[in-house]
Amino acid sequence: MSKMMDAFNEQIKNEFYSAYLYLSMSAYFADQGLPGFASWMRVQAKEEVTHAAKMYDYVLSRGGSITLQAIEAPQSSWESPLAVMEAGLEHERFVTGKINGLMELAIQEKDHASKIFLSWFVTEQVEEEQNFGDIVNALKLIKGEGQGLLMMDRELGSRTFTDETQAPAE
Ligand code: FEO
Repeated sequence: MSKMMDAFNEQIKNEFYSAYLYLSMSAYFADQGLPGFASWMRVQAKEEVTHAAKMYDYVLSRGGSITLQAIEAPQSSWESPLAVMEAGLEHERFVTGKINGLMELAIQEKDHASKIFLSWFVTEQVEEEQNFGDIVNALKLIKGEGQGLLMMDRELGSRTFTDETQAPAE
C-alpha cells in the first residue's frame, strides 16, 4: 500500500502546484486589466486546493502518512490571455496523465478502494480539460482582443466557487 500512498503524496504536490500556477495566472490577468479572468483563475486555484485536501484526507483515512513536498515556482508572465489559457489546458492534460497513472497503479496493486476514490478525479479531469478548452476556443474566435475580450471578461467574472469535492461525481 505504501507505493500507492507515496503516489498520492506526489499528486497532492501536483494539485497544490496547480493552485500556485493558477494564482500566478490570476495575478497576470489582474495586471492586464482583466478582473473577470483574474477572478475565474482565483476560483480555479481554490478548486485545486480542495483537490489536494480530498487526497490528503483520503491518505490519512487509509492509515497512510503525509509528507508534503516542495512546490516549484510557477511561470509568472505570458504573451497573451490566449497563451495563458493554452498553458492552463496543457497543464490540465498533464494532470489527467498523472491521475490516469494513479488509476493504473491502483489496478496493478489491486487496491479497490483507491480505484473507487480515483474515479471522482477521472471524471473531474474531463470537466477541467473541457473548461479550459472552451475558453481557448472562445478566445481564438474573438482573436483574443477588443469588445469580445471585454465581454468574455464579464462572463468569466461571474464564476463562483463551490467545493465540488463535497458532492458525488456525476
Ligand atoms: Fe486538480 Fe485542475 O485538476
